[in-house]
Amino acid sequence: MAKVGVTILDADFGNLQAEVDKVENADFIHFDIMDGHFVDNLSFGPHVVECIKTKLKKVVHLMVEQPERYVERFIAAGADEIILHLESTEMLDELIDKIHKKKVKVGLAINPETKIHWLRYYFDKVERILVMTVEPGLGGQPFMYEMLDKITEIRDESRISIAVDGGMDEKTAKMCVLAGADVIVSGSFVFGSPDTHKAVEVLKKL
Ligand code: DX5
Ligand code: ZN
Repeated sequence: MAKVGVTILDADFGNLQAEVDKVENADFIHFDIMDGHFVDNLSFGPHVVECIKTKLKKVVHLMVEQPERYVERFIAAGADEIILHLESTEMLDELIDKIHKKKVKVGLAINPETKIHWLRYYFDKVERILVMTVEPGLGGQPFMYEMLDKITEIRDESRISIAVDGGMDEKTAKMCVLAGADVIVSGSFVFGSPDTHKAVEVLKKL
C-alpha cells in the first residue's frame, strides 16, 4: 500500500481550498514551487502554502535555484517536509542539517538525467528520495518508463523511502510500486478524474 500525495499544481487555482478539500483522503498535499530558473515555469510561494487549510501533512517540493534562500519561509508557512533537488544547491549538507534542526523532514529529489551514484552519500542523511519521473516544471506530462530501473536500483541498495513524482496514474503508479516506490505523487490524474476522492483511493490501494 503506497502513501499518496496530491500536487495542487494542476488544481483549479480559482478554487484552491475547495480543490484541496476534495482530496482530504490523501496522505499529504504536495506543493510544487517553481522559480522560472531551475525550471522554466513559475508557480507560487510560501503564502499559498500558509493559506491552504488542511489536516494533511504539507510537503514542499522546491524546484528553485538557491533553495537556501527560501527554506525558512516555507517552514514558517507550515511545511512538514521539504524536498530539495540534488542539482539545485552547493549547500546541501548544511541545508539538510538546518531543516532537520527545525524538526522538518527532508526529501532529496533527482531529475531524470541525474544518476543515482550522486545519491548514495545521502541515503542515511534524509528521510526520502524523490525520483522525478518527468522533466520537472509542468504537470500533465507523460511518464518516463526508463525511470523504473532507477527506482529498482535505489531499492536494491537501500530501504530508504522512495517517492515518485510525475505522470502518475493507476497503471504507472503500480509499476513504480512494483519497482520499489512507497510514495506516489499525483496531480493531473487526480484532478482530471470525475471523482477525485475515488482517484486517490485507487492509488492508495496499489
Ligand atoms: C513537476 C512536478 C510534479 C508534477 C506532477 O515538476 O514536480 O509534481 O506536477 O503532476 P502530474 O501528476 O500531472 O504529472
Ligand atoms: Zn512535485
